[in-house]
Amino acid sequence: MAQIVPSILSADFARLAEEIAKVEQGGASMLHVDVMDGHFVPNLTIGPPVVKCIRKVTRMTLDVHLMMTNPEPFVAAFVEAGADQISVHQEACPHLDRALRLIQSEGALAGVVLNPSTPITMLEEVLGTADFVLLMSVNPGLGGQKMIPRALDKVRSLASRREELGLKFPIEIDGGVTEENLAEVVRAGVDWVVAGATVFCNPDPAATVARMQQIAANAPALRT
Ligand code: DX5
Ligand code: ZN
Repeated sequence: MAQIVPSILSADFARLAEEIAKVEQGGASMLHVDVMDGHFVPNLTIGPPVVKCIRKVTRMTLDVHLMMTNPEPFVAAFVEAGADQISVHQEACPHLDRALRLIQSEGALAGVVLNPSTPITMLEEVLGTADFVLLMSVNPGLGGQKMIPRALDKVRSLASRREELGLKFPIEIDGGVTEENLAEVVRAGVDWVVAGATVFCNPDPAATVARMQQIAANAPALRT
């Protein structure tokens, strides 16, 4: 069943532990943590020390999305801080195979991320190596943007390529998911649905996660 993965990017960072507790109460089992370097994307967020603090207040799987150039030197620090899974951008990693294997060798699941403008064919040589694939459905760097509709075509293509290859990696989507478009997102073949503003800009994040989890469970998945 598809999982809702709240993104703390739109949470109140002064009350992070309380915000995290709310989504955990709502039934989330994974938490998405956005790391931005002000270089690969035009914004800055957090690093390993904050991940370490988050690790102390939740048992959820920590899904760390590195929006940074040259992420390899930071992988060990994020794993040590408590990251369970780490994703790196194809566009930021000239040695993508090595970056994915490095994450795995540190003991985390390795994900590869594509920007909206990067075709899925760029992943062909690493689909057998990556533990999961994250497709950006907005241009990364900001929360609360509108989903780029073509992102769902990419999800369908990737799901069908996954089937052809007999692989089982989860497909994650990130950006612009709302309660309105969620069923369509799940039907396209998404397994992990990141949601930031929809969850944390709502006055009741716990109820929102629970409601979204229900919508996802009810959306009949069209898996080929
Ligand atoms: C965007 C981040 C997302 C962000 C999504 O660059 O990678 O994880 O939190 O936020 P929403 O769901 O608000 O589009
Ligand atoms: Zn993200």
